[in-house]
Amino acid sequence: MTTVIENDQKSGRLEVGTPLLEVKDLHVEFHTRDGVAKAVNGVNYSVAAGETLAVLGESGSGKSVTAQTIMGILDMPPGKVTQGEILYRGQDMLKMGNEERRKIRGQKIAMIFQDALSSLNPVLSVGYQLGEMFRVHQGASKKEAKEKAIELMDRVRIPAARQRVGDYPHQFSGGMRQRIMIAMALSLEPDLIIADEPTTALDVTVQAQVMDLLAELQAEYNMGLILITHDLGVVADVADKIAVMYAGRIVETAPVHELYANPAHPYTKGLLRSIPRLDQKGQELYAIKGLPPNLLKVPTGCAFNPRCDVATDLCRTETPELHHVTDKDGKELTGRRSACHLWKETLHG
Ligand SMILES: Nc1ncnc2c1ncn2[C@@H]1O[C@H](COP(=O)(O)OP(=O)(O)OP(=O)(O)O)[C@@H](O)[C@H]1O
Ligand SMILES: [Mg+2]
Repeated sequence: MTTVIENDQKSGRLEVGTPLLEVKDLHVEFHTRDGVAKAVNGVNYSVAAGETLAVLGESGSGKSVTAQTIMGILDMPPGKVTQGEILYRGQDMLKMGNEERRKIRGQKIAMIFQDALSSLNPVLSVGYQLGEMFRVHQGASKKEAKEKAIELMDRVRIPAARQRVGDYPHQFSGGMRQRIMIAMALSLEPDLIIADEPTTALDVTVQAQVMDLLAELQAEYNMGLILITHDLGVVADVADKIAVMYAGRIVETAPVHELYANPAHPYTKGLLRSIPRLDQKGQELYAIKGLPPNLLKVPTGCAFNPRCDVATDLCRTETPELHHVTDKDGKELTGRRSACHLWKETLHG
């Protein structure tokens, strides 16, 4: 009992802006029969308390592998971290022992996956699964754990929580199951939630509801949120900043509204042009030409160059670094970076 109360009192919400997670020059490879696939090839991003970072990019760009590496759930082998740091409140998690790492995972950093049905145990009631956190981590009794489970179900607005606490996962709709996943992630009051495509499997209206709920809880608890998605439309309202990934690298980062208004990378520009818009009904939808590269054979120079409309010889030979960009007067734009040789033309042209 005391431990449960302690945890309630703890409610150690971090002050908005406290640095939580910093990923520095992360490299992850997969050794396959056909060769070495560089799935993550120098990723840099950070998130602070009360902040939402959206990580955006086409399928295979390395979004999930980065997240799995942060959580320490990457399959090794075949996966291997070859370089980089993952700092959680200043401490490199890659250098921590298993025990220390386990304490952070789940309690400090929680993850929400796309597919709730396969993440929940089908033969245990949702109340039991939600309560497990409190029984295992805080030594709560069965009765206390059940009350906690009901509280959490209320918190994520599952109607008639008290009546439904004994129901099984398949008795809930997809949207409700995803709320249960959010409740699980919240149960130990983490500082940071990583949500990997949390609404992809849901229909559009339910998507918006679940996303709004996540954003609301994140703000209330001052949590950091990393929202992984390939859908630019979903993140516009909830994210503070965006990191765009391509072939295992971050190619652009920016505050969300600046990125939408004025991208500094041709890939971002292409992604923005390919969002369906109501005011352009009837017009053919733009699609970036070509396909993302085979990670066993990433093009030399800028990995995006074969698909880029403005690529030059330099782009075909030299890999552009992710560097700060400036406004027309040469003043550095806060929080904005681009890995494009032609960022100036892209941003100001
Ligand atoms: N266990 C594994 N073994 C070999 N390659 C892997 C493994 N897991 C991931 N990869 C490769 O790493 C690359 C990055 O995958 P990742 O899952 O991070 O992409 P993603 O950006 O999350 O894409 P999506 O939008 O489809 O979820 C892919 O090319 C994938 O095939
Ligand atoms: Mg993924």
